[in-house]
Amino acid sequence: MSGSTAIIGSGLIGRAWAIAFARAGWSVRLWDPAAQAAAEAQGLVAALLEDLAANDMLRGQKVEEVLGRISTAPTLSQALDGVDWVQENAPEKLEVKRALWQEMEPLAPAEAVLASSTSAIVPSLFSEELASRARCLTVHPINPPYLVPAVELVPAPWTSSDTLKRAEEVMRAIGQAPIVMRKEIDGFVMNRLQGALLEEAFRLVADGICSAEDVDIGIRDGLALRWSFMGPFETIDLNAPAGVRDYAERYQGLYENLFASMQRRVDWTGPVMEEIETERRQRLPAEQLGDRQRWRDRRLMALLRHRSQAAEEVGE
Ligand SMILES: NC(=O)c1ccc[n+]([C@@H]2O[C@H](COP(=O)([O-])OP(=O)(O)OC[C@H]3O[C@@H](n4cnc5c(N)ncnc54)[C@H](O)[C@@H]3O)[C@@H](O)[C@H]2O)c1
Repeated sequence: MSGSTAIIGSGLIGRAWAIAFARAGWSVRLWDPAAQAAAEAQGLVAALLEDLAANDMLRGQKVEEVLGRISTAPTLSQALDGVDWVQENAPEKLEVKRALWQEMEPLAPAEAVLASSTSAIVPSLFSEELASRARCLTVHPINPPYLVPAVELVPAPWTSSDTLKRAEEVMRAIGQAPIVMRKEIDGFVMNRLQGALLEEAFRLVADGICSAEDVDIGIRDGLALRWSFMGPFETIDLNAPAGVRDYAERYQGLYENLFASMQRRVDWTGPVMEEIETERRQRLPAEQLGDRQRWRDRRLMALLRHRSQAAEEVGE
């Protein structure tokens, strides 16, 4: 399946979506209200595509082929003309999103799905007043979506099941791994999971139980080895002889006993940050943050190559 998409707002995430759609054969139109932003985005996308090609991440296509599917539109209505999918990537401010969606919705073709990349705004907050609100939802990627497949599909109470189904099909068709939520909630799924982990990580360091590096070892060299190819439910299904129920019966008590001591917040920017930041800056001086981010992206690409190779050799 392929089609055409309008990328509304061509900053960091808009550009990344342009790559994800164009790599999958979709034609992409970029629009941004800032003068030159869409044209600049095209240039930045070209550079990113070179990196992806060098890492064999363009699914056998040449940079020019993928880039040739991405154009810019001078106006919002020209960007939206005839498209099948609209991906909105405006700044994360409710009043900006509301005004933009009011303007965008009547201009978009009646059949198009309208999706917002918002990290934290539930879709009911920007779609309630819209005439065709049944085709509106949040489609929240992890940056950058052309490398990280998981994407959250968040319906408002009035999003139609047909819209959700089409969104799921489109995301699968471009190579993403959709999380199809049944209803909206603050934090969606992934930030709620990440938040639970981070809250405990801060508590452990604040209470003097272990260092920040020890927390990182526990994840990097422990739990995340499995988590990079299976989730916590599959993990516990395999960690008791008779599966997930057996695990719950054996170990629920252990976690239940911990629960009371986990009902307390630590201020992330309070005294604990002194210790965490000192430790981090000793391991990674501030001037090396940029290099280390590039290293992270290379490691991520290497991990993705390994994942598809392992899936072929060992099975999904
Ligand atoms: N950065 C991330 O890691 C990340 C991850 C997932 C989702 N998101 C979400 O994606 C959205 C965009 O974030 P970003 O990081 O790309 O920000 P960004 O600042 O890089 O880009 C925002 C772009 O929107 C443009 N813009 C400003 N007003 C606009 C309007 N009225 N209509 C259309 N475009 C407008 C700006 O000119 C800019 O190019 C936000 O909702 C954010 O929460 C970000």
